[in-house]
Amino acid sequence: MPVAPVSKAPDRIAGMFDAIAGRYDFLNHLLSAGIDRHWRTLAIRSLALTGCERVLDLCTGTGDLAIAAMRARPPASRVVGVDFSGAMLRVGEDKLRKALLTNRIAMVQGDATRIPVADASVDAVTIGFGIRNVEDMAAACAELIRVLKPGGRLAILEFAVPTLPVFSAFYGWYVRRVLPQIGRVLSRNDSAYAYLPASISAFATPDEFMKILRLAGFREISPTRLMLGSVILYTAHKG
Ligand SMILES: C[S@@+](CC[C@H](N)C(=O)[O-])C[C@H]1O[C@@H](n2cnc3c(N)ncnc32)[C@H](O)[C@@H]1O
Repeated sequence: MPVAPVSKAPDRIAGMFDAIAGRYDFLNHLLSAGIDRHWRTLAIRSLALTGCERVLDLCTGTGDLAIAAMRARPPASRVVGVDFSGAMLRVGEDKLRKALLTNRIAMVQGDATRIPVADASVDAVTIGFGIRNVEDMAAACAELIRVLKPGGRLAILEFAVPTLPVFSAFYGWYVRRVLPQIGRVLSRNDSAYAYLPASISAFATPDEFMKILRLAGFREISPTRLMLGSVILYTAHKG
């Protein structure tokens, strides 16, 4: 089936996340039946933290992956969360205050294609369900290489279209019919949860995305299929 183009203009995407920020966490956990927490735990575990690492959580949103990196045992030593949606960052900052983590996690407003972080200054980068939304993915991947130290680790969680015959039919019905309706009513936003299935269909296949990572300079790229292939954890090292 042909895939309709989806506008990922930065102003449009940032505005959409600004509009749903207050309900984002609630809907995230509801629509994934809480399994999203497990995916984030797996992503952080893949970094094999030792307690000394400085981690960048790009497209941090309300900071759940950043917080997971601090809750890991051993945890990251410091996390910087970067996102271009001011409203998502404000919700995240409230969570950090409640969790007494403001001295260990910094939230910074910025774009994935111009990351406000110095060259070779982080040991690991995480991105949870964010790279799909970035208009110029190759530019963002080049930025990841720039900010990572040599040998630095990458863990990216992203949705994918599953290929298992029976499950993919169920998945198509849930993501295209059920999820946008629930999302529209509960987020009180007409377009954001219609954008979700459209952006998943329009996103690169796992092979295409791994090629983008390889061309950017990542090595040992490995995709782990979660939830029968509807979510993929990509791990890699800066070569
Ligand atoms: C689906 S949310 C994911 C939030 C969080 N990482 C999580 O796991 O729940 C995607 C986030 O990516 C951010 N984002 C999308 N494109 C971006 C870009 N080009 N630069 C910075 N942030 C971006 C959005 O503002 C949004 O907060």
